[in-house]
Amino acid sequence: MIVKKLGFLAAVLVVVASCASVTKGKVDQGKEVGKVESQWANLKVLPQDISEDELKGLMREYNAALGVKCNHCHAANPETGKMDFSSDAKKEKDYARHMITMTNELNKKHFDYDPADKQKVSCFTCHQGNIKPKKFTDIAPAAPVTPSPSK
Ligand code: HEC
Ligand code: HEC
Repeated sequence: MIVKKLGFLAAVLVVVASCASVTKGKVDQGKEVGKVESQWANLKVLPQDISEDELKGLMREYNAALGVKCNHCHAANPETGKMDFSSDAKKEKDYARHMITMTNELNKKHFDYDPADKQKVSCFTCHQGNIKPKKFTDIAPAAPVTPSPSK
């Protein structure tokens, strides 16, 4: 009886361990594993199973948040001249990947208090329609930066 139970436990452990290694494989080589399941060719930060509607919605949001067109981040295939959305030829695309990760972390680490709105911070929060967010000196060039007086 005890031996049987131990055998069962061992089997469970094997299953758990192999699940864990599959999950790890996904994280480590999301691209390779994702290729099997994903309709997208080259996602490194967005979820592999993101639907076409969701992905296009996000991309349009990036356009609006930065005041750009798709080709700010995406390059055309030099031979056909057609847009190649999976190409990593433009450095802006990789920069945007860092920005997506940063924005996700900001929401998760600092704004995760409201179950109804998990996306307090978005690209638009900082960019406001500008490729580079405005600096304080852009809107108030002559203003000296002084500490507020203590009372
Ligand atoms: C601010 C930069 C930026 C803009 C603007 C942008 N994209 Fe993207 N796009 C990305 C990034 C970054 C990825 C890859 C995300 C990842 O690695 O998970 C991506 C991925 C994609 C993909 C998936 C390609 C694949 O199969 O791997 C498509 C399709 C796409 N974008 C279409 C568009 C379209 C259409 C527009 C304009 C409406 C657009 N993008 C505007 C940054 C941008
Ligand atoms: C917390 C503020 C903040 C958020 C949120 C943010 N950005 Fe940025 N982003 C910046 C700053 C600041 C710069 C300019 C950095 C510099 O001048 O070197 C920048 C620069 C960029 C650039 C490079 C601009 C160029 O010269 O082409 C891209 C692309 C970009 N952001 C995309 C995004 C996308 C996409 C999102 C949302 C997923 C996003 N950012 C969210 C602050 C932010």
